[in-house]
Amino acid sequence: MKLAISGKGGVGKTTIAATLTKLLARDRKIVYAIDADPDACLAAGVGIPEEVINQHKPIVELREVINQKSAGGGAFFTLNPDVDDVLEDYCLSVDNIRFLRMGGIKKGGEACYCRENTFLSAVVTSLLLDKDDAVIMDMGAGIEHLSRGTARGVEMMLVVVEPSKNSVNTAKLVQQMASELGIKKVKIIGNKIRNDKEREFIVSQFSAEDLLGFVAFDEVVWESAMDQGPAAQLGGQLLDSMEKVYQNILREVGEVK
Ligand SMILES: Nc1ncnc2c1ncn2[C@@H]1O[C@H](COP(=O)(O)OP(=O)(O)OP(=O)(O)O)[C@@H](O)[C@H]1O
Ligand SMILES: [Mg+2]
Repeated sequence: MKLAISGKGGVGKTTIAATLTKLLARDRKIVYAIDADPDACLAAGVGIPEEVINQHKPIVELREVINQKSAGGGAFFTLNPDVDDVLEDYCLSVDNIRFLRMGGIKKGGEACYCRENTFLSAVVTSLLLDKDDAVIMDMGAGIEHLSRGTARGVEMMLVVVEPSKNSVNTAKLVQQMASELGIKKVKIIGNKIRNDKEREFIVSQFSAEDLLGFVAFDEVVWESAMDQGPAAQLGGQLLDSMEKVYQNILREVGEVK
């Protein structure tokens, strides 16, 4: 199962990515959780202690490795078995979870970052296409840095919305971009739902086919952000409603338990 998660800032991408990672880790052998958003804190959400995260370098900073491995220039864009070394060496492992932090991916036009971008793209592509394990990628709001090669490996893009017009507008743009990149399944998850009115709002904005499910607003998770940071405490109401979304995801990718 190869999933990418996107949506407007603050809608709950990291929270949902972390919860799905935990659910997959509970049920399967290995799940790769990838922070593809430089601002994400997915590691905290999947239970990695802060002091460990702080010592973990993002892949983009591994200049030595990047320079060596991308010496051949564009050739590295093709799948390269050497990428496996990077995965083994730079994953943080907690139980079944293998955590990778991509680091800042720079936009085009900044020539000196081309190698890093090529390298990151190859790492992600290798994960998506060569591995049988589950992969959950927490993307930022923009998916424009997703290359066609990488997108090819994404089975389903999950676009998170909250009950607001702005997040719906962003989601529609992401839906469009994702299908232009050739991602076949692009599904919406309604998050932070407190009542029927909010649920109905989201239902009114998307086709029934596009809607994957809803995640309840969880007061405990919301309050925990005040002292522990986003996604540090997951459970209760949030986990309960995620179970159903999780089952829908398994069904969509043909992996019903
Ligand atoms: N279902 C929910 N119930 C209550 N609070 C939630 C829920 N989902 C997310 N939150 C809270 O909303 C805030 C934003 O969540 P999160 O960091 O997961 O969003 P994000 O989309 O990853 O944000 P960013 O764009 O900054 O990466 C956090 O404080 C998180 O705890
Ligand atoms: Mg985030």
